[in-house]
Amino acid sequence: MPEPNFIKRIFIKAYAGQLRKPKGIFALRVGNKMNELNSYLYDISIDKINPEDNEAILEIGFGNGKFFEKIFAKAEDLKIYGLDYSSEMVKAATDNNKSSVNSGKLFLKCGSSDRIPFDDNFFNKVFCINVAQFWENPSAHLKEIYRVLKPGGKFFTIIRTKESTLMMPFSKYGFTAYTAEEWEIILKANNLNCINTSVITERPVNLNNGDYKLESYCIISEK
Ligand SMILES: C[S@@+](CC[C@H](N)C(=O)[O-])C[C@H]1O[C@@H](n2cnc3c(N)ncnc32)[C@H](O)[C@@H]1O
Repeated sequence: MPEPNFIKRIFIKAYAGQLRKPKGIFALRVGNKMNELNSYLYDISIDKINPEDNEAILEIGFGNGKFFEKIFAKAEDLKIYGLDYSSEMVKAATDNNKSSVNSGKLFLKCGSSDRIPFDDNFFNKVFCINVAQFWENPSAHLKEIYRVLKPGGKFFTIIRTKESTLMMPFSKYGFTAYTAEEWEIILKANNLNCINTSVITERPVNLNNGDYKLESYCIISEK
């Protein structure tokens, strides 16, 4: 692919920043674009997460929260918690899920996953989709995830494969691309033992006027 010109590079860099932390006047549009790109990925990931009745589940980096209803539809009496450090996304997700928030089954907080504002041994499952590639020091986040998981609890990392990450023009601005093996080693160093890794082949998506066929890993680890 040819090198983008100067103006296009500035745009791509700004877009990368918005994906990392949606903010300001473009935040809502970025949230909607992520829904368009990631709806299919969420469907497959939620099947793998396999929510079961009465579980407490945490999503880190939920964006505008348009997919929480898909999780609630899978099981009875779920309690779902969300943590996102973009105040714009927390507001959008709260607006998009008013009835679940008001009825006390969905709890959304603003904060970063290297300081998770929940108690030790609290969650059956924690997951994040398209978030771990932004963590500058993954161990700081994984230690917190380990702390809040119950013994035997599972952490699901859904992240684009190294090839797919590097294919996207904005990935050179603040993204880290991992192979499954590289991420499994980092998990293990933080006491999260990998129990299953699979590849999700996504539908073609349009990004910056280019069509991309992307793949993601779903890496399941256990406390
Ligand atoms: C690329 S978006 C992905 C949104 C959604 N998960 C999806 O796949 O469509 C990344 C989201 O994670 C949030 N995020 C990134 N790093 C975070 C961190 N350290 N703690 C909490 N939220 C984070 C961003 O604010 C943003 O909403």
